[in-house]
Amino acid sequence: MTQDTCTLTIDGHRIELPILTGPTGDRVIDISTLREQTGVTTLDPSFANTASCRSAISWIDGDKGRLLYRGIPIETFAENKVSFVETAMLLISGHLPTQAERDRFAELLTEYSPLHRNMDLHFNAFPPNSHPMAIMSSMINAMSTHDRPRITDDASFADAAAKLMSKVRTIAAASYKASIGEPAVYPRYDLKYVENFMHMMFSVPYRLYEPDDIAARALNLFLVLHADHGQNCSTSTVRVVGSSGANLFASCSAGVCALWGDRHGGANVNAVRQLERIAASGLTPSQYVARVKDGKDRIAGFGHRVYRNWDPRARILRGVVGPLLDSMNRPDPLLEIARELEATVLSDDYFIERRLYPNVDFYSGIILRALGIPLNMFTVMFAIGRMPGWIAHWKEQFDDPTTRIARPRQLYVGRPDATWVPRELRRAQA
Ligand SMILES: CC(C)(COP(=O)(O)OP(=O)(O)OC[C@H]1O[C@@H](n2cnc3c(N)ncnc32)[C@H](O)[C@@H]1OP(=O)(O)O)[C@@H](O)C(=O)NCCC(=O)NCCS
Repeated sequence: MTQDTCTLTIDGHRIELPILTGPTGDRVIDISTLREQTGVTTLDPSFANTASCRSAISWIDGDKGRLLYRGIPIETFAENKVSFVETAMLLISGHLPTQAERDRFAELLTEYSPLHRNMDLHFNAFPPNSHPMAIMSSMINAMSTHDRPRITDDASFADAAAKLMSKVRTIAAASYKASIGEPAVYPRYDLKYVENFMHMMFSVPYRLYEPDDIAARALNLFLVLHADHGQNCSTSTVRVVGSSGANLFASCSAGVCALWGDRHGGANVNAVRQLERIAASGLTPSQYVARVKDGKDRIAGFGHRVYRNWDPRARILRGVVGPLLDSMNRPDPLLEIARELEATVLSDDYFIERRLYPNVDFYSGIILRALGIPLNMFTVMFAIGRMPGWIAHWKEQFDDPTTRIARPRQLYVGRPDATWVPRELRRAQA
């Protein structure tokens, strides 16, 4: 890390602030002593100009459309068909696992895949048609009481991480089964991570699902591409909650809630709904885009706070979606509409000026549809994929001796001098 300085003058008083440069050339002004030195803080709504921490987990170059996991380009994971479990281990531990480490982790994942018997009671208490994201967040939080994570060293952390990664897929499948009124399916000890999830999703008591290689590889890629993404909204949420000392499961449960929103993980649902709307309306994609722009609405699956270029994950998914549908023999009319919509948006001045490109959610929904994942489970799938990232960030922060509770300041814009009025003398506000 190299260091430079800049000078700031406030009320005639000059102070020097360090400028830090990371190994990839990112430059940040370190303002951590600003208030102490000057009594002044900074205003940065939505943190668009704020680096909230130092992190070595993933890196994004928004201008060039690049993403690295622990220094390795995301394309390498796709080209080498790296498994989701190995990707997770790399993100969480910081190094590529040895065979022995991998075997041990796989053993833990298998061992922890069933849910605590009492957890069934919670599932039974949700009303029919409950949203699987609500169930998932509640159930992960409930793990704090059933599984009681006490992280004191690396071994207890590895144990809790495996427990969470393993159970989240059982919880996801069981949430789906609960939402359609079917009994939960037990995990199988002979299946790998992704195949086991598909078994729990698609098996029924009278018919076992036979894992399909092509489908499992596609789902694996989906999970790998979602595994981490810098200080995004849900990851920042996990870090903020964890900074108070909250346990790993409670912190990740908060991450699920943050992911739920339309502007974050919920966009993969809207991207598919949008294609369905275009198909049903009979509008051409360019008529649809014109209408959306007039209504000042947003095109789901486009735009990103950091990328001002193609999201590399969207580029990878765009490349695999066609061949995948062909090899599964599942043509999808929405793919044609998606391609036309993409071409329309990318040649439209409004989007060109604002540098809005497809993001990961634009094509991922078509892949999930081909795999038979229902629409209300799309964001849950994102959550399973993002779990290793959340765990890695929680641990990175936990291990950092300089971590303090997250506690931003504000610019107070309320009244400075209001007086209390007795109830009988109050008048209705205009
Ligand atoms: C991802 C997202 C929340 C980023 O938001 P942001 O960084 O705050 O972007 P901004 O609100 O600063 O947008 C900049 C401009 O582009 C416009 N814009 C951003 N995304 C747009 C979209 N998908 N469709 C149309 N216009 C969009 C904004 O209206 C704004 O226009 P203005 O300058 O005329 O006001 C935003 O692009 C979005 O809502 N996209 C759709 C949802 C989505 O796909 N989310 C998944 C992200 S992985």
